[in-house]
Amino acid sequence: VNSRRPMVAGNWKMNGDLALVTQMQDAFKQNRFENVDVLVCPPFTLLAGFSSNDVGLGAQTISEHPGGAHTGEISAVMLRDVGCGHVIVGHSERRTDQHESNTLVAAKVNAAFSSGLTAILCVGEPLAVREAGKVFDHVAEQLDAVIGHCGSDVLNNLVIAYEPIWAIGTGNTASPEQVQEVHAFIRSHLAKVDAMAAAKIRILYGGSVNATNAAQIFAQTDVDGGLIGGASLKVTDFLAICQAAN
Ligand code: G3P
Repeated sequence: VNSRRPMVAGNWKMNGDLALVTQMQDAFKQNRFENVDVLVCPPFTLLAGFSSNDVGLGAQTISEHPGGAHTGEISAVMLRDVGCGHVIVGHSERRTDQHESNTLVAAKVNAAFSSGLTAILCVGEPLAVREAGKVFDHVAEQLDAVIGHCGSDVLNNLVIAYEPIWAIGTGNTASPEQVQEVHAFIRSHLAKVDAMAAAKIRILYGGSVNATNAAQIFAQTDVDGGLIGGASLKVTDFLAICQAAN
């Protein structure tokens, strides 16, 4: 057993409505998880309406700018203003859809870090990279871009989410062994920068986690919880996954 407190974060992606917010608020009033940091990351439009003493609030992205003439963008200060403590940065869907480079992702992590928000930095490889045996190189490059831009101090207020792209939304979950192998690599890679921070940093797994497979994945030595997509939109499934980490 490690000393890291598990985290289970629900990434709603472009889903959900005020009714689901109410459903989730009620569910977490009835079901407390004393040993888990539970987060919900709904779309921006639902953040202000999501007040809860039982779950933390996260956003799904953030502007790299502090404010001003950037139409449509949302700043760190605005996220703090509506009660966010966390923000997902560099999700593979944004790296693809919004062409977020490692450099831009690093700038977004820095915007969060500079405002006291905890970024959940998503890393992970496409299937072709795994088939080429280059997973560690790919993930190291994603991590190094952030550390290089933000400085190693960022590791003291950061969560990592390893999300193999080929497992996201596919039902093709990485095996517990595959998950542990990459999580152990991530932790050892970070330990070269700061051994203490690497021992403390939480590394979540994301990619088709569900109520059935969560416990086995969370039982892995270097897995500190999960970043949950589809299953976080169903109250009973999300509660079961939180219980698996509790
Ligand atoms: O950020 C979590 C997400 O990418 C995982 O999605 O639906 O495979 O749990 P899903």
